[in-house]
Amino acid sequence: MDVISVIRTKRDRGELTGEQIDWVIDAYTRGEVAHEQMSSLAMAIFLNGMNRTEIARWTAAMIASGERMDFSALTRPTTDKHSTGGVGDKITLPLAPLVAACGAAVPQLSGRGLGHTGGTLDKLESLPGWRAHLSNTEMLDVLRSAGAVICAAGDGLAPADKKLYALRDVTGTVESIPLIASSIMSKKIAEGTGSLVLDVKVGSGAFMKNLDDARELAATMVELGTDHGVRTTALLTDMATPLGRTVGNALEVRESVEVLAGGGPADVVELTLALAREMLDAAGLKDTDPAKALADGTAMDHWRRMITAQGGDPDAPLPVARGQHVITAPSSGVLTTLDAYAIGLAAWRLGAGRARKEDPVQAGAGVELHAKPGDAVVAGQPLLTLHTDTPEKIPYAVEALEGGVVVGAAGAGFAASPVVLE
Ligand code: URA
Repeated sequence: MDVISVIRTKRDRGELTGEQIDWVIDAYTRGEVAHEQMSSLAMAIFLNGMNRTEIARWTAAMIASGERMDFSALTRPTTDKHSTGGVGDKITLPLAPLVAACGAAVPQLSGRGLGHTGGTLDKLESLPGWRAHLSNTEMLDVLRSAGAVICAAGDGLAPADKKLYALRDVTGTVESIPLIASSIMSKKIAEGTGSLVLDVKVGSGAFMKNLDDARELAATMVELGTDHGVRTTALLTDMATPLGRTVGNALEVRESVEVLAGGGPADVVELTLALAREMLDAAGLKDTDPAKALADGTAMDHWRRMITAQGGDPDAPLPVARGQHVITAPSSGVLTTLDAYAIGLAAWRLGAGRARKEDPVQAGAGVELHAKPGDAVVAGQPLLTLHTDTPEKIPYAVEALEGGVVVGAAGAGFAASPVVLE
């Protein structure tokens, strides 16, 4: 087998054979296929797609590139959630301990932010002492003691995806349904969860900008999970505007703790409960009521146990950025647009995100949203507070917001979008 013929097949819109797929994934993982060759193949797939048979084989080959985890020693059913990525999407933080409080075990392997979307591990690392990297034994211990664990995938899990995702990120080949579906599902299937709920984001702040693409991505991932014996369902949820009222690492941890304390913004609570119900249903625990576990403090108990078991101090003060800049409403009326991509980009430029995988992030950086679309505002009232340790970046963040924050005349047409679309 040679890599040039594999690239040519896809470049010329052909169907890759199972043997070609198995070989190229294995050879790339071992270093025999070079990054530039895989980058060319990824672009050919990006442009010409893969059919469901090819996607299934590609996913199986990525799973086979590494180890598979096994949670069969646990007495509780395992269930996990994966979001395709958004702005202000802190849902994993309250959700994992909440579902654990309702009787399931939640092995939540999470990622870091890249570009304008935030990452769960970056958010949790703003808690002093908290460790994202655990051995498989430590992960199992935290699951046993707290019912939920949120950590980084070990190096042994789907290593082909680790290499390929890093490559796609720097070669403009991320936003491809076959590549996203196989990337996410190879990790989730290798992780060994019994059931999985996918939160497929739709809108300006998501990889999928329209409902049809999001439906296709969701259907592809549900089919992959089901074929591998993982009970998989998906919700399509809105990402035209950020979730909640904070975007940025420590800011989002603060808001998540508010939700666990029984408060927090309505959209974050609504999505947390909707996903919790799906997960509990998939895990065979549909008679438990997650709203009760939020209200009576048991979800908060599980959060505290989980953070402590991973070396963090749930009572430590969260980092605050050195500089703040307030953006006010230019006129009175209704906030008609608060664009997720614009806010995500601004947060990223303020230091909440990274340009390259190895870059550090600022724990305190981000954007606080004082109004949400549909809210009446008066001229001069604060709309956003920008937080950063590098105030020289504020003009670039403000530039990112141009056209993304719009105040219309009072009574301006405004169509509110539901949080859960389908
Ligand atoms: N998240 C992943 O893990 N992979 C992708 O390709 C996109 C989002």
